[in-house]
Amino acid sequence: MTTSTPQPNVSEQQLRELTVAAEKVAANAHAPYSSFRVGAALLLESGEVFTGCNVENSSFRLTSCAEQVAIGTAVSALGPGIRIRAVVVVNLNGASCSPCGACRQTLLEFGTPQTLVAFPDKGVVQLSQLHELIPFGFALQ
Ligand code: THU
Repeated sequence: MTTSTPQPNVSEQQLRELTVAAEKVAANAHAPYSSFRVGAALLLESGEVFTGCNVENSSFRLTSCAEQVAIGTAVSALGPGIRIRAVVVVNLNGASCSPCGACRQTLLEFGTPQTLVAFPDKGVVQLSQLHELIPFGFALQ
């Protein structure tokens, strides 16, 4: 898979490590309904890494996305002051896996406009900053 140039403050080595972590956790997904197993790995500003996988439910709308599980895990461990520097999202089988709209808004809650978001899109790793994926995200003023 090809990768476009990484953004500053996240090295290629860190991106590789996050990708390995995301692939590992994707294997734990509970996805009997879609068979679409997703893993997300967060790199926090503190340098710590947290991961999550999707957890589906037979009442489909109760499904938790991988990104939301990873964020919930990080907040549970460290509290609400976490700041996400980068996130890598993968599908276990290498399928395109762009974060859904709800996950983009959830990432915005704990990220910055510059948070790096990496995900596979048609065989290429897409690297974006969060503001490019969710311009005009909701904020309670
Ligand atoms: N999914 C995620 O985990 N993250 C996303 O950003 C999009 C979709 C999961 C939810 C569901 O279990 C499966 O992918 C298929 O939609």
